[in-house]
Amino acid sequence: MNLFRIKKPFILIIFGASGDLARIKLFPAIYELAVQNRLPKNFYIVGFARTEKSSKEFQKEFADSIKKAHKDINQNLLKNLLAHVSYFAGQYTEQADFIKLRKYLNSLAKSNSTTKLAYFSVPPIIFKPIIKNLGESRFLPNEDLRLIIEKPFGQDAQSARDLFHFTARYFNENCIYLLDHYLGKSSVQSLLNLRHSNRLLNLMMKGPTVANIQITAFEKVGVEDRAGYFEQVGTIKDMVQSHLLQILALIAMSIPITENADSLHREKYAILSAMKFIESKKNIVLGQYKGYTKEKNVPKNSHAETFAALRLFIDRETWYKTPIYIRTGKRLREKHTFVVVELKKFAFQGKDEEPNRLIFELQPEEKLSICLVNKIGNETQSQEVTTKASIACSGDYCLPEHALLLLDVIRENRLHFLSFQEIIATWEIVDTISNFMKKNHMNPEKYADDSLGPNSQNNLTEMDGFKWFDRH
Ligand SMILES: NC(=O)c1ccc[n+]([C@@H]2O[C@H](COP(=O)([O-])OP(=O)(O)OC[C@H]3O[C@@H](n4cnc5c(N)ncnc54)[C@H](OP(=O)(O)O)[C@@H]3O)[C@@H](O)[C@H]2O)c1
Repeated sequence: MNLFRIKKPFILIIFGASGDLARIKLFPAIYELAVQNRLPKNFYIVGFARTEKSSKEFQKEFADSIKKAHKDINQNLLKNLLAHVSYFAGQYTEQADFIKLRKYLNSLAKSNSTTKLAYFSVPPIIFKPIIKNLGESRFLPNEDLRLIIEKPFGQDAQSARDLFHFTARYFNENCIYLLDHYLGKSSVQSLLNLRHSNRLLNLMMKGPTVANIQITAFEKVGVEDRAGYFEQVGTIKDMVQSHLLQILALIAMSIPITENADSLHREKYAILSAMKFIESKKNIVLGQYKGYTKEKNVPKNSHAETFAALRLFIDRETWYKTPIYIRTGKRLREKHTFVVVELKKFAFQGKDEEPNRLIFELQPEEKLSICLVNKIGNETQSQEVTTKASIACSGDYCLPEHALLLLDVIRENRLHFLSFQEIIATWEIVDTISNFMKKNHMNPEKYADDSLGPNSQNNLTEMDGFKWFDRH
């Protein structure tokens, strides 16, 4: 297996280097790249944040976060890696600090051709000042600077458009990598690989053959220490707007005829821009786990939804009247993310006969099952034929999502990043849902912690004569 190894020197500047995303995801991902010998001889990791500290102190934090994430540490490798790590304290809003940062970066890598990656590991409120200051402190207009911005992009379609126009004042679109870490998951990437390699699957996944599509993303954890953020967004904006609509697009799109990013973005956009929520309380169920208002920093009268189930449609001829059900929630019985494509039954098949199903398991297991119905003696039985959905640990798939996506930025592979148009399209559908919830003063119903969520989620599927597929 040919592994991609970075040859060219680069500098990775992590804005918000003192935060959760940096500590929990980015530092361990960089270590993983070092373990797999993917890093070049010359590279520099520069942490940037407001808190004053020395590079030595930052290196210790960097090492501690890696030790927390990995059981067996290669001490020598870690020591060598730390020699490439340094820290620069500054204000995100101060241009003078960015000019000093530029000088510091130039002192690290003398050559103008060194690739610079600016990772936005900060709350969205600080995106604009960093973009402006990075843009205005440029010494050379044609430097190779790439911006990696992690979702959420805006809070609605209007603010996302505004952010993109703002960014365009300083940077070309081809310098910007819009990241949804779900697209870095090997299980999600394997949706594309499986569809791209199997005509059998694509024949089954065409609108006229499909009875309904179900996407389930259940989390066992509650809000944990992200209450401040979660209270402002709720689960529809947090989970559905990007992660789950992206999964839907990968399932429902036509297969791109080339494996290049533009072609994929075009097909996903065709689905996302056609998504439709019919404004009726019958098409939405909101829930909140009972223990939510007892969580740290959650107001006692909070109406934030920690569970949502939606009934949507795709306004395209091929998907006409095929319901799409999406449900996601926190503090549920188990962590489980899976997609079910339920096929239509023959007209002569009995009501109680099980349909054919394609089940794409994304988390915690990665596998694809096809439910076939057969008669054993006189009895009709549904049997599953299962295959691994991805080669669990070979080649690039051994890497955590942030490491894979960092490699992709370096090799300028945009396949697993988002396009501006897709983001606007997903916000437009979420805006319609949010406005409907506001207009109708919808409050979430309570559901028991560690349950399967509110029972009323069944009304969504039952009105079409279907039921959620669960393995319980
Ligand atoms: N955490 C996750 O697992 C996760 C998952 C998916 C997406 N994201 C996204 O990734 C980004 C970073 O997430 P995070 O959890 O690491 O954020 P965070 O811990 O809240 O913030 C990161 C750093 O930004 C600085 N900061 C925080 N609030 C600030 C403010 N109001 N003004 C100026 N600086 C501020 C702080 O550093 P200093 O004070 O030292 O400068 C902080 O350590 C966010 O956009 C988040 O939505 C996070």
